[in-house]
Amino acid sequence: MSSSVKVVVTGAAGQIAYSLIPRLVDGRTFGDKKVDLALVEIPQVVDKLEGLVMELEDSYFPNMGQVTYTDNFAEASKDADWFLLVGSIPRGIVYNGKKIEERSDLLSINGGIFVDQGKAIGSYGKDDAKILVVGNPANTNAFIGKNAANNDNQLWMAMTMLDSNRAKSIISKKTNTNIADINNMIIWGNHSPTMYPDAENVLISNELGSSVINDMEWTESSFIPKVQQRGKAVIDARGASSATSAAKAAIDTVMACESPTLSGNCFSAAIASDGSYDVPEGLICGYPLITLEDGTIEIKRDISLSDFAKSKFKISIDELLSEKEAVKHLMQ
Ligand code: NAD
Ligand code: LMR
Repeated sequence: MSSSVKVVVTGAAGQIAYSLIPRLVDGRTFGDKKVDLALVEIPQVVDKLEGLVMELEDSYFPNMGQVTYTDNFAEASKDADWFLLVGSIPRGIVYNGKKIEERSDLLSINGGIFVDQGKAIGSYGKDDAKILVVGNPANTNAFIGKNAANNDNQLWMAMTMLDSNRAKSIISKKTNTNIADINNMIIWGNHSPTMYPDAENVLISNELGSSVINDMEWTESSFIPKVQQRGKAVIDARGASSATSAAKAAIDTVMACESPTLSGNCFSAAIASDGSYDVPEGLICGYPLITLEDGTIEIKRDISLSDFAKSKFKISIDELLSEKEAVKHLMQ
């Protein structure tokens, strides 16, 4: 084995984590690296993780290194390379007597978690740690965490890969194309019903979606709302928020960051804006990203946005600004 990587997973006793954690040690996600796992839960359920650890041991994973579990996030953070921040409350459940309908309703419940976790990551995580926030509202949780971490060498991301995978699936059906031949599926903005899935810049067998799809009525009235509302559709059908597809998307994000992006391609995640595409600096915004040969992750800057795209994207940027305003009490 070439080297090792330490991965912290929060919400480790939850639905997503149950699909996610085995994939981290299956020898694909991190190649032949040894993977040490630090699993984190709240005190009420942390003991359940003993059962998960037993199952991991019983699963024969030659690349699995040390596995620990704790309710002490700061302790788990020490020298970690990756943080998969899944731990938080999903929508669709009743909380304090009220059904949680929108991801943004979770802001006041989940936002606070990311202050302490951010501080610990900034202090104890590796200086080049990568952090993927899955817990909703993912963009603004990442915004809170990054601010608290106060370490610009670490890369904070919020997950939009699930939206990108959903969009690829819909386009694959619409154009009768193998999903593997659909690339550059960009999700602009917030992981919320305002996100803008870009059917114009997607590559379908290396051709731009704007020429292959050529159906604005379908794009606007069917494709975009379907991607935006897919999380709710899964909750309505399953009675619980998407889990195995979310786990797969988290793995896809890690893998996209771990290997250089093929020339001309990009992948989707939300990172802090540096002003690219006129997004106010600092907002954690869904962008097209590329991983360079040296492992650096950058925004792909040569995408051209139509007036239609710009108007849709602006709605999501405005929502991110209003979420930023709503959590200003958590910024120190
Ligand atoms: P779940 O309720 O099954 O599991 C969440 C777990 O997090 C629970 O075990 C809970 O005890 C734990 N937890 C809560 N607070 C914690 C803390 N401070 N530290 C550590 N653990 C903590 O939920 P789930 O289905 O696994 O979903 C988790 C989150 O992921 C939800 O917020 C959901 O909305 C979100 N989600 C995001 C995406 C996305 O695309 N970004 C997709 C699916 C779900
Ligand atoms: C999803 O997109 O499936 C998740 O964000 C869960 C949700 O609340 O929609």
